[in-house]
Amino acid sequence: MSTLITGIGELTTNDEARGGTTGRMRDAAVVLEGDAIAWVGAASDAPPADERVDVGGRAVLPGWVDSHTHLVFAGDRTAEFEARMAGEPYAAGGIGTTVAATRAASDAALAGNLERLADELLRGGTTAFETKTGYGLTVADELRSARIAGARADAVTFLGAHLVPDGEDAAAYVDLVAGDMLEAVLPHVDAVDVFCERGAFDEAASRRVLAAGRAAGLALRVHGNQLGPGPGVRLAVELGAASVDHVAFLDHDEVRMLADSWAHGRGTVATVLPACDLSTRMPLAPARRLIDAGATIAIATNANPGTSYTTSMAFCVATAVLQMRLTVEEAVRAATLGGAIALGRDEPVAAASRPAIGGRAGAAPLPDLGRIRVGARADLQVLDAPSITHLAYRPGVPLTSAVWRAGARVV
Ligand code: NIG
Repeated sequence: MSTLITGIGELTTNDEARGGTTGRMRDAAVVLEGDAIAWVGAASDAPPADERVDVGGRAVLPGWVDSHTHLVFAGDRTAEFEARMAGEPYAAGGIGTTVAATRAASDAALAGNLERLADELLRGGTTAFETKTGYGLTVADELRSARIAGARADAVTFLGAHLVPDGEDAAAYVDLVAGDMLEAVLPHVDAVDVFCERGAFDEAASRRVLAAGRAAGLALRVHGNQLGPGPGVRLAVELGAASVDHVAFLDHDEVRMLADSWAHGRGTVATVLPACDLSTRMPLAPARRLIDAGATIAIATNANPGTSYTTSMAFCVATAVLQMRLTVEEAVRAATLGGAIALGRDEPVAAASRPAIGGRAGAAPLPDLGRIRVGARADLQVLDAPSITHLAYRPGVPLTSAVWRAGARVV
């Protein structure tokens, strides 16, 4: 089954071969065949297909790739949010509230909540997302979180090192995370993450968990420099992490380090989370400085019930433009291709060259995400607008008018 999408007023491809930040084309058409993109070019040259959809001059772009979410949870933290808006600072301790609710929830309730939020993501144009464990914090609860996440998400990250559970000895808990807990979740996850922050895990504990994850064949992620200066960014770059996320508090050297990490091949993506910065009333991450220095950034929602209860990538893109001073092209690229790079999904990767130990990591070759080009997974969104500029020009307006994921029309 093939579908010709034509009448595209503005096509954002993110294909470097087409030039500019976003590989933009006018009066374009795209053909989807099965789950992949089969043809991209001028509408006047388009080949025939089984089905034809004319989008009437609207803008088409890759689906959002949300590379940082925490969607396996139960419960609600409205009261904590209200207190914050009344002046209370955010503290990592709020995680414990969600841990208690998550442990008490049934598998069906957790899967149902994930499904609800995944549908919300899709309706907003997000065609691929990562999600994390981290609200279970026992071997059994982290394992079931990883299983539930793996049934729905495109990428799953193990975040046993989210918080030391109440009443537990910190050193013994790190032993557990780096030992039995990691071993239990391994077949279900692609990456390991650690909340490296005052009040969560210090540098030595973070290093230990990341080293264990790396030895097990997982990609590395770090929650770093979220609530204040700290060792997270330095550690992430030193260990070759795929991403370091939050990055709100960066000095000149850390910005340089992130940029330089790309000098000899793949480096560490700096993932900015604008909705979280706003919702916790923290400074916005210095996305402009990062891009100017040459770093690779991703924009993600950080959807979770504590610090960022939104699934709207469009909101994050608008904030990145209006408040972080990115151009629309930079923000759209960071929210699509940037996320794909953070997840290691921007290029097709042969099964043989992927890490062999993590069960999910040893899976079949993956088509690439974040670009509209031949061979990529057929993930794209149509805006009810003539150009991507409207994402910032009309903030808060739901502009998603159609979405294809893996070749299937889902909105
Ligand atoms: O990315 N920083 C740590 N983890 C989440 C917050 C989780 C929560 O407060 O429940 C974050 O912001």
